[in-house]
Amino acid sequence: MDQMTHCIFDYNTLNLWRWINPYRHFKIFQNNRNMHNFLQPIIEQHIESDFHGQGGVKTIVGLALKTHTEELGAQGSKNNIDKPFMDALISQLKIFIFAGHDTTATTVGWILYCLSQNPEVLEKVRTEHNEVFGNNVDAAFDRLREIPQLLQSIPYTTAVIKETLRMFPSPGSIRDGCAGFSFLDPDTNMSYPTDGFMIWDGIRAASLSEDIWVRPDEFLPQRWLVDADDPLYPLKTAWRPFSIGPRNCIGQELAMAELKLVVVSVAREFDIECAWSKWDEQQ
Ligand code: HEM
Repeated sequence: MDQMTHCIFDYNTLNLWRWINPYRHFKIFQNNRNMHNFLQPIIEQHIESDFHGQGGVKTIVGLALKTHTEELGAQGSKNNIDKPFMDALISQLKIFIFAGHDTTATTVGWILYCLSQNPEVLEKVRTEHNEVFGNNVDAAFDRLREIPQLLQSIPYTTAVIKETLRMFPSPGSIRDGCAGFSFLDPDTNMSYPTDGFMIWDGIRAASLSEDIWVRPDEFLPQRWLVDADDPLYPLKTAWRPFSIGPRNCIGQELAMAELKLVVVSVAREFDIECAWSKWDEQQ
């Protein structure tokens, strides 16, 4: 990511000032240095302790260090981590932090929004949490610490999260077009070459398309719980907020676990009201 100081939008001539603005370059340099200074000691701590981090827990840093020393073979030691590897590892960690933060935070906002707009769904979520974790919210976390697998026992909450991600997906996928790969418009038979273009998957449009989803504009968590013969049953591969294929989201299990924990924490503790328009008025 150190090299990624520019994004594709910088090359738009309308953004020329943004591209050459020395203050922006200084801020990028400063932010990179801050991240580096924050992350390097954490990595060094891992090197000091063991490759799997404290208590044998598998961490990204631990796995990266283990792979690196395995690659070094006989000369490998956890103490001879070279600078290019350290820089590469810090870059990867920055990608994880960046990719994992905004996406999950935005989704939390949308889940709360969807619950506020669908009180009957919120009621079902609360009933499920009472049944699985007991009526006491604090005790729910003691139970989860004891039996973390209980997070897999809240299918309705999971359906709410999946339906939120369907209606309000965060990022889309962008890929380089290439020679020999073109799109064919079935209505006009026109062929559109992709070489020299960036291709965006248009996930937001696909998520709300009637060609792909039944009642696409409605928030219906039950579509994730019905049997295959139900009209609401989703098409295979239609749901792709984490993308699909070899470059899909590597953090999706973590994201789902985080999102479930948030819903378990707040659904019974708060009555949710959407105040975006009030907030807009105050600006
Ligand atoms: C609701 C939360 C999240 C959503 C909606 C989401 C979505 C996505 C999507 C759509 C992609 C594929 C992008 C592409 O095709 O180019 C992706 C990739 C990625 N995500 Fe997530 N993500 C989430 C959370 C996380 C978390 C928690 C982490 C890590 C802690 C993470 C780490 C990554 C990384 C490293 C990639 C790149 C994978 C690769 O290129 O091989 N994401 N994510």
